[in-house]
Amino acid sequence: MIKTGWAWPVLLAHRCGGALAPENTLAGLEIAARLGCGAVEFDVMLSADGQPVLIHDETLERTAGRSGRVAELSAAELSGVDVGQRFHPAFAGETIPAFADALDACRRLGLAANVEIKPTVGLERQTGEAVGYSLRAMDAAGDRQVLLSSFSAEALEAAVAEVPRLPRALLAACYTPAALACARQLSCVALNLSRDGLTEEDVVAVREAGLAVMVYTVNTLEEARRFLRWGVAGVFSDRPDRLFGLVTESCIT
Ligand code: G3P
Repeated sequence: MIKTGWAWPVLLAHRCGGALAPENTLAGLEIAARLGCGAVEFDVMLSADGQPVLIHDETLERTAGRSGRVAELSAAELSGVDVGQRFHPAFAGETIPAFADALDACRRLGLAANVEIKPTVGLERQTGEAVGYSLRAMDAAGDRQVLLSSFSAEALEAAVAEVPRLPRALLAACYTPAALACARQLSCVALNLSRDGLTEEDVVAVREAGLAVMVYTVNTLEEARRFLRWGVAGVFSDRPDRLFGLVTESCIT
């Protein structure tokens, strides 16, 4: 039997509250906590003035319905951008949070946070450094409620230089021996993979190397249970309401 010593919650609400709230918002964190998630995942990018904020896309079109590039707007300007109205009028006035405010909310709500470093193309190192710098106090205190991750090895490496004790995971669209080697080189605790095309053999290969596997984005209980039977340690879901059964089931060895 393969053991990874993994102690993270099995269900992570994707982009804060999954599909039940505007993504990457404080409202999403509140909803995830109410639904019983022990952990959330969110994306962190840099504003024009180098401040880490929660957003997935490099532009505002999809979430705010207006033009604008994150890397060209200050943190103050981004903090006034409404990303709630476009999702649902009930969330009007919900804005792009500062990373520090999201961390405070997670602490208050008892949520572990998978912080995905999401650099604007060309700002991989700077984004990793800024995210890591923001977490230095938690690293020094031995906090284990934050898991860093990124598709960018460069960004992750830059963050790790700031916070060498925080656990981290490399993200990849699919399993490859090269992705696993890169994750090991960065001393990652996990290789986080897409559900698309994932096989049980992939999961076993990663676990045999001593790393955990977390899978995105899983939205049915049936599929989540199948991945857990394969040895997956956690799933990111847009529908944490549907997957709540995982929290009370014990499928992991
Ligand atoms: O971190 C897991 C998942 O969120 C990665 O995909 O596109 O949402 O960043 P994406």
